[in-house]
Amino acid sequence: MTLENQVAFVTGAGRGIGKGVAIELAKSGADIVFTNRNKQFSDQTQAEIEALGRKCLPFQVDVADTDAVETMVGTALKQFKKIDILVNNAGITRDNIFLRMKREEWDQVIDVNLNGMFNVTKALIKGMVRQRYGRIVNITSVVGFTGNPGQVNYSASKSGIIGFTKSLAQELGSRNITCNAVAPGFIETDMTGELNEEQTSAILNQIPLGKMGSVDDIAQAVCFLVSNQANYITGTTLHVNGGMYG
Ligand code: NAI
Repeated sequence: MTLENQVAFVTGAGRGIGKGVAIELAKSGADIVFTNRNKQFSDQTQAEIEALGRKCLPFQVDVADTDAVETMVGTALKQFKKIDILVNNAGITRDNIFLRMKREEWDQVIDVNLNGMFNVTKALIKGMVRQRYGRIVNITSVVGFTGNPGQVNYSASKSGIIGFTKSLAQELGSRNITCNAVAPGFIETDMTGELNEEQTSAILNQIPLGKMGSVDDIAQAVCFLVSNQANYITGTTLHVNGGMYG
């Protein structure tokens, strides 16, 4: 197993892409720390990871809560002594056309998708610098590159993740820490499950491979970027979108 003796921290791993990533990292041998908002989902993810023989430490912590994130990371480091891999996956949408978008909808998305990534990375980075090793993967989105009507807030947050990723890669390369992004296209999860039939068929028309992606498609991309095979890759975005954009 390629990630044996490594510890991975995954945000938003109660369900969907984050859960798929956490389980794939566990299959590769990593122990897992994760956070999400929902106790029931959290228990399920934890059970699946432990069934693979890996250690697992779950938290129900909001990544946007700076103090709670610091406490959570302190507790995780006490138990595991180090974190080698960070996957910033937690993300939300609050869609509305710009003319109707409330400041609150803007703030909520920026708070989780950008400030949350800042909080968790900030709390973990010193340890990675000290051990001269770290693999960070931030989950952005195809709409951070293309834009999407009704998603000014979400698209801005996802474009912001690209700037963060490129800058951090440049700052931390000399410490053997890589920082990359994965940009999913449309992936079958609860988030896209909210789309109606008309929206789904409009999306499928834009995808050369003619289907939505799976959680596993994203999990494999993340696993590659944190593996030794990707040691010389940093500051880049891996597009996983069936050919929609690249
Ligand atoms: P999801 O809604 O199914 O799961 C999100 C997870 O994040 C849940 O476990 C939830 O508890 C957790 N979470 C939400 N807010 C949180 C917070 N404040 N603090 C801690 N945990 C929190 O979402 P999905 O579809 O799995 O998306 C995961 C990531 O992938 C997001 O960043 C999303 O923007 C991105 N993405 C998803 C696409 C899709 O088609 N599903 C496409 C492109 C990007």
